[in-house]
Amino acid sequence: MPTFEYSTKAPAEVEADLLIVPVYEGPEAGPGVKEVEKALGVSVLSTLTDNTLKGKVHEFLILPAYGKLGAKTVLVVGLGPRREVSADAIRRAAGYAAKWASKYGSVASTLPQAGAARIGPAEAVQAFVEGFLLGSYRFVQYKSKPDDERRLDRVLVLGATRWDARAARTAIERGQVYAEAVAWARDLVNTPAGDATPAFLAEQARTMAREAGLTFKAWTKAELEKGGFGGILGVGQGSANEPRLIELRYRGGGRETVAITGKGITFDSGGLSIKDAVGMEWMKADMGGAAAAIAAMRAIARLKPKINVIAAIPSAENLPSGTALKPGDVLAHRGGKTSEVLNTDAEGRLVLADALAYLAEQKPAAILDAATLTGACMIALGEDVWGVMGNDRRLVREVLDAGDQAGEPGWELPLWRRYKRKIESPVADVKNIGDRYGGAITAALFLAEFVGDVPWAHLDVAGTAFQEKAGDYWPKGATGSPARTFIRWVENRAAAKRRS
Ligand code: BES
Ligand code: ZN
Ligand code: MN
Repeated sequence: MPTFEYSTKAPAEVEADLLIVPVYEGPEAGPGVKEVEKALGVSVLSTLTDNTLKGKVHEFLILPAYGKLGAKTVLVVGLGPRREVSADAIRRAAGYAAKWASKYGSVASTLPQAGAARIGPAEAVQAFVEGFLLGSYRFVQYKSKPDDERRLDRVLVLGATRWDARAARTAIERGQVYAEAVAWARDLVNTPAGDATPAFLAEQARTMAREAGLTFKAWTKAELEKGGFGGILGVGQGSANEPRLIELRYRGGGRETVAITGKGITFDSGGLSIKDAVGMEWMKADMGGAAAAIAAMRAIARLKPKINVIAAIPSAENLPSGTALKPGDVLAHRGGKTSEVLNTDAEGRLVLADALAYLAEQKPAAILDAATLTGACMIALGEDVWGVMGNDRRLVREVLDAGDQAGEPGWELPLWRRYKRKIESPVADVKNIGDRYGGAITAALFLAEFVGDVPWAHLDVAGTAFQEKAGDYWPKGATGSPARTFIRWVENRAAAKRRS
């Protein structure tokens, strides 16, 4: 992890292996470009044009400095139209640049100026640091030798604003905290299911909680039995790796307590309603919601918002075996409601039902859950956008806003109550599948049965939690989504409560 520093030094003079300067679409010079042109005695803009570059997103140009700058090499990065520069454009450009920058020992970069969005310097610094770190992420734990050369140990963020050192530090640290939470969530998701069992996830959370100063409890199988968590136990009963309920508590004071949870299926084979081979390829990532929630708790412990947060994360491995759950079995969930399991591959809602019921008992002001719940949501919204459904309009709005601010956009699907008919069961209170249509909605309606009247929103992150293609700031695999949305939402709630 490189160290970050903020400085108002002149871009042409700072000593670094690489100097990064932005250009807007046109091309139009971003901060630092004029200084570079003057020192080098060349026109960066016409060099771009000569190379048929316009300063669009994903365009870049590398220029040698030939000893005329403090830096040895210049990386010119396209940001797209100047008026469209937002926090997320900065994050993405920084992430994209970081992929190149990581092989240099020291890097300095000027900060793009925000366009119509008019974000302040603090937010710009945070976005840069966050994006840079997100783009630097690699998962190399399972490589016999790391395949890329990484030397980067120092990043200098060059800004025009002369604010006090504390404000700059805070902005940098916020970017680091968000990005480190994401990196950790990605590590947990990318870790193969052979290692990442429910007990492993619980141990990772325990270590984190000790370091971060959070209250921790992992409910064992025996404790889950005593507590009536039939959904978590049922899904986990086919595996030799026992299920857990991972509980974390943050006490930041303030007048409000909110709750978060996430689906923690460490491997989803489908159970007896078994998936085919291709359907299982990524199912180590079926704990993406859980990883995001646990990682968010770590970030929250570091950011210290004035609010209290409870997390209760159900984790189980969904396997077929002689002891596995069978289609037609009926489970009794925490709180007593029963469900008929007609498809053992609709297991996420079964474990979440218990966790939601447990959290609702504690009467928090709101509950947020995230789950890689349905292929249907992925079909509807693709892999860039998560779906959200909830029983409270204001809460859904808050979550959508937090996602936009965090750079993890979502979109609302209707919690269409009349489809409850699709999940009526002749033998139990509810059944765990609907028909072919509206699968993301029937899954959410199932969950809604367990939250009582607590304001609740559910994020279906089946499309966004892991990706088969690399993005601007993630390699192929886990993305860490929606950890940043969780963090931002909690921070926003704390800030709103202070104002009211
Ligand atoms: N974990 C899957 C959903 C999923 C599929 C996530 C693909 C990411 C990529 C979930 O447990 C599941 O199997 N859902 C079924 C539900 C169905 C049986 C009602 C689905 O979506 O097909
Ligand atoms: Zn699943
Ligand atoms: Mn499944």
